[in-house]
Amino acid sequence: MSPCPPPVAGLPARPAISAWPDVAELYRRFDALVKQPMRPIRADKLPQVMRYFDERCQGSRRLAERAKAVIPGGVQHNLAFNHPFPLAITQAEGAHMTDVDGNRYIDFLQAGGPTLLGSNHPVVRQKVNEVLDSCGPVTGLLHEYEVKLAELVCQSMPGVEMVRLLGSGTEAVMGAVRLARAYTRKKWIIKVGGAYHGWSDQLVYGMRLPSTGRMEAVGIPRGATGNTQECHPNDLDALRRKLQLNRLRGGTAAVLLEPLGPESGTRPVHPDYNRQVRQLCDEFGALMIFDEVVTGFRLGMGGAQAYFNVKPDLTVLGKCLTGGYPMAGAIGGRKDVMMLLVGGIGTTTRRAFVGGTLSANPLSCVAGYHALLEAQRTGAAGVAGRAGDRLRQGLEAIIHRLGLPYVVYNMGSIVHLQTSGVLLLDTSNIFKLLRVKNEATQRKHMMEAMGAAYTAHGLITLAGSRIYTSLADTDAVIDDALNRFEDVFKLV
Ligand SMILES: Cc1ncc(COP(=O)(O)O)c(C=O)c1O
Repeated sequence: MSPCPPPVAGLPARPAISAWPDVAELYRRFDALVKQPMRPIRADKLPQVMRYFDERCQGSRRLAERAKAVIPGGVQHNLAFNHPFPLAITQAEGAHMTDVDGNRYIDFLQAGGPTLLGSNHPVVRQKVNEVLDSCGPVTGLLHEYEVKLAELVCQSMPGVEMVRLLGSGTEAVMGAVRLARAYTRKKWIIKVGGAYHGWSDQLVYGMRLPSTGRMEAVGIPRGATGNTQECHPNDLDALRRKLQLNRLRGGTAAVLLEPLGPESGTRPVHPDYNRQVRQLCDEFGALMIFDEVVTGFRLGMGGAQAYFNVKPDLTVLGKCLTGGYPMAGAIGGRKDVMMLLVGGIGTTTRRAFVGGTLSANPLSCVAGYHALLEAQRTGAAGVAGRAGDRLRQGLEAIIHRLGLPYVVYNMGSIVHLQTSGVLLLDTSNIFKLLRVKNEATQRKHMMEAMGAAYTAHGLITLAGSRIYTSLADTDAVIDDALNRFEDVFKLV
């Protein structure tokens, strides 16, 4: 394969997604994957994987042990809960990171998605330092970068005329739901089963696996999820039925969806799905909310809405919005709706209240503005997307050659590698859900073991099943990664 050419100034950016996957074929292969016995790392090879952690990761192990005394479970970020213990990282740059024991890894976690430019990009870091030197991270008053970032987001995203910055994707989803209810004066929120929209009370519902409802809603009163509903992915008839029923009992304020499909496209949508949901929203007077926390800017400056050419009423942003710096969250959307988010203390106008001491601080805004400018200048989404294509094609060839049932697919820089199929189990009704509960635990263990094997071969993935590529992933990085993946798959 020839090296990937650098982006050329003046030429239109390459699209982030070169081709939408063949969805019907994918679902057929998902079905085949979960219907056959698991293909984990062989029992006689597992000790070899675990030896890596014993022999090469003692510094991480010691820190993880220390952490357990003061941090529940020993680590705070959900994505760092890796088997057999979380790695302690000291350096991250571009496509690589290094742990406290000096081991170097190819970084396909990319902090869970925000660092489209690769980790710790020098241009962004320098601009952040300039602002820190002049006014520190926060003043509580207006800063020029707050306006510049908002202007850039509004210019880039087709459905965003105004924007309000918040603390995280979770906060922004929470605010968007409140805003939709305030605007429509209706109460129901319909989400797609399996989608993750953060951890607010009303959206820990139907998480990860469709039709699981309140399965993870521990500590959340029934009333908090009482007006949340879920529909199975791609099921437009079910969505219509819910919209019809809701019309008789308070109306639907919004349909909330991840535009690629739940869990960043783990169960991909049919290419026309978003447009048809848009039509249903219009027919029933519900707002359409795109949760673009993952897809915003990672799929190009216009996000998934530009790719699908579907304009949501509201857009939730996070992650790439601040280029990996703290406080990544925003609600954007139609001006008439957004005006209900007007700020200030105790106004007399009717509004949906949101706030946050550190929201829209200069540090987040300068980081976001320059990260997005740099992404635009370099065509980062397209470059990362081609890296995703190259990785997917290479993995496909290895999987095929070794006769494994695994399924790999990508939407640009978001690559899904399904080996255990735990997120693809059929939970479409309560009986199926009960039946797969035990199997889900076993398949989850397999996914964790695969994650550990990748790590022991110098590859950091997201929970052993997802990969984010970045601008820093040259052909050489991807080819190096493919050799490492092949070494892991030979242990199966
Ligand atoms: C689609 C989606 N929405 C919302 C969130 C929540 O964002 P945050 O972690 O910033 O609260 C996430 C986080 O992974 C996400 O993937």
